[in-house]
Amino acid sequence: MDFFTNQSNPPTSGATHNGKGNPSRPRIIVALTGATGSILGIQTIFALRRLNIEIHLIISKWAEATIKYETDYTIANVRALADHVYSTNDLAAPIASGSFKVLGMIVVPCSVKTLASISSGICDDLIARAADVVLKERRRLVLAVRETPLSSIHLQNMMTVTQAGAVVFPPVPAFYIKPDSVGDIVGHSVGRMLDLFGLDVEGFERWEGWKKE
Ligand SMILES: Cc1cc2nc3c(=O)[nH]c(=O)nc-3n(C[C@H](O)[C@H](O)[C@H](O)COP(=O)(O)O)c2cc1C
Repeated sequence: MDFFTNQSNPPTSGATHNGKGNPSRPRIIVALTGATGSILGIQTIFALRRLNIEIHLIISKWAEATIKYETDYTIANVRALADHVYSTNDLAAPIASGSFKVLGMIVVPCSVKTLASISSGICDDLIARAADVVLKERRRLVLAVRETPLSSIHLQNMMTVTQAGAVVFPPVPAFYIKPDSVGDIVGHSVGRMLDLFGLDVEGFERWEGWKKE
């Protein structure tokens, strides 16, 4: 099975793919944008590393600002976690082309500005261009849109990208896991997001019905 083209049956963790011209490890494009919640993006990268996924990373200018403000990570720390890092201005990067074989792309966190760029098809930076390419190639695109409350502009943009095949995943906490920490909430969102690529995050707690006391 070619999991790069069969979205209904995505790969399991650590899968290899040895066809001619195909990468040996599954690849995902990860984009961090300037919505609050940069830790969601960083923890997504850590989870993908544990799954042995090849990470192609783009960090927007405003994501750099929120990473610095909200976390103890430096930009160099975060960049070092990826296999490949691209400038948002590099529209000649391999991931700007549909010929680049990739499972899909996750924008986490996703600002409403980047949502608007993707929904209108304006490919003026590498994040919007790579997302546009993922959609046209009918690959998986997950947008962890973080804003509240939402205007009709945001909602219409979410509808447009959903109709084009994207999955909008607002990182809303699931309180049934009884989180002890922000880390628990972030970890659960990361698990749910990577589920959308068919990737099982170790230790991810699933709802299994009411627990007996
Ligand atoms: C501290 C901080 C928090 C922000 N939080 C959000 C947010 O939650 N959602 C959002 O859409 N924009 C948020 N913004 C605004 C975006 O950073 C801004 O719209 C920027 O242009 C997004 O560009 P980008 O998508 O290219 O990163 C925030 C900005 C700052 C400085």
